[in-house]
Amino acid sequence: MIGPILRLGQVSSTQDALRSLLERGEATGATEGTVIVAETQEAGRGRRGRRWRSPRGGLYVSILLHSDPLLSLMAGLAVARALRDEGIDARLKWPNDVLVGEKKIAGILVEAVRGWALVGIGVNVSEVPLPTATSAEAETGREVSLEVLLERILRHLGQARERVLPAYRELCSTIGRRVLVESGVGPTRRRLTGLARGVDPLGRLLVEAEEGLEAVAAGSCRHLPVDAEEGPRYRGGEGREDDGDR
Ligand code: BTN
Repeated sequence: MIGPILRLGQVSSTQDALRSLLERGEATGATEGTVIVAETQEAGRGRRGRRWRSPRGGLYVSILLHSDPLLSLMAGLAVARALRDEGIDARLKWPNDVLVGEKKIAGILVEAVRGWALVGIGVNVSEVPLPTATSAEAETGREVSLEVLLERILRHLGQARERVLPAYRELCSTIGRRVLVESGVGPTRRRLTGLARGVDPLGRLLVEAEEGLEAVAAGSCRHLPVDAEEGPRYRGGEGREDDGDR
């Protein structure tokens, strides 16, 4: 069940606000489904230590849920569906970047705390924070209500778990693309290039690489241009470490 919803003005990060609510314990009443939504974040976080620019006019939400291996895919799917309800052709880049074409419109950050999952969702609604990004209003050409968008996301997040994977695969634009996938950090860091063949029942990306078919459980994925060769352009890391591909 989703709710209660706590509405805040400016926070450092809704993830931090939810974490401190959780850490203050039972007295705060932080229960499964607790939602924090803020108008702006001073220190919004993205995946892999990146920054998430959070001007007013965007949607910044964190939700307290029980851990589930499919949660990050479920959250991405819920956001993509909510945006599609607004008439936007939103699709998913594995695992959970929400794109329109190749432009990012929303991102998901799942952090584990004491057996709980803090599911952070950021959606560009009225502002386009980077040239590589887009927003709900840029796509529709009309005003998009933060309130209605949040309500749609939460409703889709409550859908039956068994229906998630088929729906996810249908909206996943990574499947069938040549990809560069980075997983692990430090000494366990690994880069894999190949053709994305599908997403398995555990939510892992199946990549047909030179080494054979590999199942990647977590990491970041880049869609390679059609006919691209993996030249030096793809060897130098992610480029802008603060914002990534947003
Ligand atoms: C990504 O890198 O794509 C994930 C971005 C997640 C941003 C959201 S905004 C609400 C929540 N609070 C944060 O600090 N991050 C997440």
